[in-house]
Amino acid sequence: MAKRFSLEGRTVLLTGASSGVGAELAERLLDRDCRVIAWSRRPPEIESDADLVHEAVDLADSAALDAALSGLTTRHPDLSVVINNAGVSERGDFATMAAAELDRLAETQIAVNLAAPIRITQHLFPHLRAQASAMLVNNSSGLAVAPTAMNPVYCATKAGLRSFTYSTRYQAERAGGRLKVVEVLLPLVETPMTASRSHRGKLSADKAATRIIRGMERAEAEIWVGQAAILRRITGFSPALARRLLKIAGG
Ligand SMILES: NC(=O)c1ccc[n+]([C@@H]2O[C@H](COP(=O)([O-])OP(=O)(O)OC[C@H]3O[C@@H](n4cnc5c(N)ncnc54)[C@H](OP(=O)(O)O)[C@@H]3O)[C@@H](O)[C@H]2O)c1
Repeated sequence: MAKRFSLEGRTVLLTGASSGVGAELAERLLDRDCRVIAWSRRPPEIESDADLVHEAVDLADSAALDAALSGLTTRHPDLSVVINNAGVSERGDFATMAAAELDRLAETQIAVNLAAPIRITQHLFPHLRAQASAMLVNNSSGLAVAPTAMNPVYCATKAGLRSFTYSTRYQAERAGGRLKVVEVLLPLVETPMTASRSHRGKLSADKAATRIIRGMERAEAEIWVGQAAILRRITGFSPALARRLLKIAGG
């Protein structure tokens, strides 16, 4: 990969900018004079800015997603960075929860965490690979590498997204390499997603976003953030040990 990727003045599609890590990313992108097209159901809570364009999109609704994708690159021909950041995490206790409820939660997580990034990638890949330089970022998780017990579908979607990101990167390389394909692997971060988890040592969303932007500007293929970097080292010498640690400590 090239050593640097300038984010200055880019047009960026960012999903999940309404809270948490996505809101922090939006602020940093606006600081770099980017035009940010923010897709989420709620508008971003950050200060309004002429370069922040919120389009209300429910990523769990494939028809709504197709409608949003249709004509996107005509409306924004300079689009050169896409960040699939939106995500949903739900507990799934097979012993105590009703199957119908588990099905409903699974469907949403699969739609938002996996099906939507796949659809967005497939629609926008031809446009992105035709740019002088472009970047596609998928926000997976350390749990893509080693799952926990109680978030089975979430972990499965993130493992699926990790695999999909590899394949997309291979295709981008075959297409000439002007499109960089990046995966972000976060540890536990303090956001609304994790508000119910009283875990010590959560990384702030501010620090997580700062690290992600730095990794993007360095064109890192994989951005392992905070304690996820430790998980990477453990996985390197013993995937079984990494799985055991998450099985015990991951909830
Ligand atoms: N927090 C962590 O510990 C952690 C760890 C590893 C990975 N991650 C990943 O990091 C990413 C950001 O998570 P976060 O912690 O910042 O979560 P968050 O604060 O809960 O934000 C989630 C974002 O996803 C959007 N979203 C959810 N469902 C959507 C839908 N149906 N349609 C459109 N947008 C939807 C939300 O927007 P609306 O509700 O407005 O639609 C919101 O902006 C996720 O992919 C998550 O899996 C987080």
